[in-house]
Amino acid sequence: TALPDIQPGLLKFIKNTNARAPPPSESLVFGRTFTDHMLTIPWSLIDGWKEPTIQPYGPLSLEPSATCLHYAQTVFEGMKAYRDDTGKVTLFRPDKNMERMNTSAARLALPTFHGPALLELIKELVRTDKHWIPSEPGHSLYIRPTLIGTQRAIGINPPTEALLFVICSPVGPYYPNGFKPIALYGTTEFNRAAPGGTGAFKIGANYAVGVLPQKVAANKGYQQNLWLYGPEHDLTEVGTMNMFVVFRKPSGGYELVTPPLDGMILPGITRDSVLTLAREHAAGKSPLAELTKDLEVSERRVTMKEVKQAAQDGNLVELFGAGTAAVISPVDRIGYLGEDVLIPTEADGMGPVSRPIWKELVGRQMGAIDHEWSQFV
Ligand code: COI
Repeated sequence: TALPDIQPGLLKFIKNTNARAPPPSESLVFGRTFTDHMLTIPWSLIDGWKEPTIQPYGPLSLEPSATCLHYAQTVFEGMKAYRDDTGKVTLFRPDKNMERMNTSAARLALPTFHGPALLELIKELVRTDKHWIPSEPGHSLYIRPTLIGTQRAIGINPPTEALLFVICSPVGPYYPNGFKPIALYGTTEFNRAAPGGTGAFKIGANYAVGVLPQKVAANKGYQQNLWLYGPEHDLTEVGTMNMFVVFRKPSGGYELVTPPLDGMILPGITRDSVLTLAREHAAGKSPLAELTKDLEVSERRVTMKEVKQAAQDGNLVELFGAGTAAVISPVDRIGYLGEDVLIPTEADGMGPVSRPIWKELVGRQMGAIDHEWSQFV
């Protein structure tokens, strides 16, 4: 017989009797402040998913032999809740996070679960700490679902015990003073991902190995890595974000390019949203203001040779990262094999394609534009 899946009906609630007042929004630093409550759901091979609990945010108790501490048996998600002036709370495309978390869990032989059931519990957690969601423009509640192997065993096996937990962090805009373009170090000495590897999964290990390369880039005067792959130095991702580049076409229109989901690229939800908005625009469906209809949208390989050539010819229009945390992150310079490739940015830091896409995306996220991507909590 099938073991129990996550059961929202069994939710147990332990109120935080030491609830704090949320700090002033201006003081928020990304991912440093956590709300009063967290959600925990233990799992075991024998019992399946056990009783979910919303309880005070606080330390977890793990044995030092817990597999997550040794073999990086940990997967996570990043999603956001928004609150508008009227107090309405929404989540942005949360079903996508549930799907991806299951894909990541399966890759690490961690237990999978019914996505809508976890989402129901996350909504309950967000409602519990709703007053923690800053409502100023660009602010949100960053939600971090995490799944770890907790079995006490240092043999390497699929864990027989696991813990799913969800914590929440109020966050301000990534760029409080408008967009500030970043400089990237074209990284050829480290790979973020490889064919058959784990680059397409949101697992802790992918991020752990990115910290040193990021330090190397910082020491050379660049904010982030531009992950280049293979003999032709294919552009793949930017730091912890997906990568987009815009070329000017001979027709005068634009081509918006991002690498395909070939197993080395994280299937980002912001990536998917940017592609969808651009394709809808190009098809004449929900057109974006101030953007030419002559827009081609490509998921294809793009190499440094092509980017350098376009820069030389004046056909490189913009390059940006896209992710949940920063939404859109413009780039103005790539350090590549000892020289700098310069990328145009306009006065506000953005470009002619990213700006209208960003406006629409943020409108849909914050609830200013009604859309099914925004789910009422
Ligand atoms: C993103 O949202 O772009 C991320 O992946 C950032 C997160 C790892 C903090």
